[in-house]
Amino acid sequence: MSRGKFITFEGIDGAGKSTHISFVASLLHDLGHTVVTTREPGGTPLGEKLRELLLSENMHLETEALLMFASRREHLAQVIEPALARGDWVVCDRFTDATFAYQGGGRKLERAKLEALEAWVHPHLQPDLTLLFDVPLEVARERLARSRNLDRFEQEKADFFAATRDEYHRRAQQFPQRFRIIETIRPVAEVNALIDGLIREFARA
Ligand code: TYD
Repeated sequence: MSRGKFITFEGIDGAGKSTHISFVASLLHDLGHTVVTTREPGGTPLGEKLRELLLSENMHLETEALLMFASRREHLAQVIEPALARGDWVVCDRFTDATFAYQGGGRKLERAKLEALEAWVHPHLQPDLTLLFDVPLEVARERLARSRNLDRFEQEKADFFAATRDEYHRRAQQFPQRFRIIETIRPVAEVNALIDGLIREFARA
């Protein structure tokens, strides 16, 4: 049985990634794959408890980074690794790129510390495909301004999102073989068509 594929969804808050996750999951299902859809932080009972804390409690920046990776360690052990080993495809709403972007870019935690945690928690695993949803900063801000109950990250200021977005772009340049940037400023139907083509091509490869 061949190993499944690991697809991650990334982007700053307001970039519109959530709209497209179920679309990709059902497309992969139609293409004959068993799909596990999950998210970070979270994805396990313990991880969901950590998510609640991470999205609401103020904490030291390094505590925040460690809890992101603690949630991830549990998620890999309980969900991601077993699914890939079974041959399932895993569609994950955020993964380690988000920690580099938010805790590294946004909050300025040294990249070397994040690299050390990454090497500890998943030395041999990287996503096979990462869809980076992107819009100009002002558009993301406008979309967020329309939503209620903003979490601790969504309440951050514009320069935090600018730095987070810059770090996502830096990573996309660093790992061009797995990153695809999806510009969601276009109408949803157009974005769907683009993702449809991209996923079909990826699934054929
Ligand atoms: P998000 O994925 O945007 O979920 P929702 O669509 O329900 O708001 O929320 C998760 C938040 O957690 C998001 O603001 C980014 C943040 N985050 C980090 O800061 N670091 C990480 O490693 C991960 C996975 C998420």
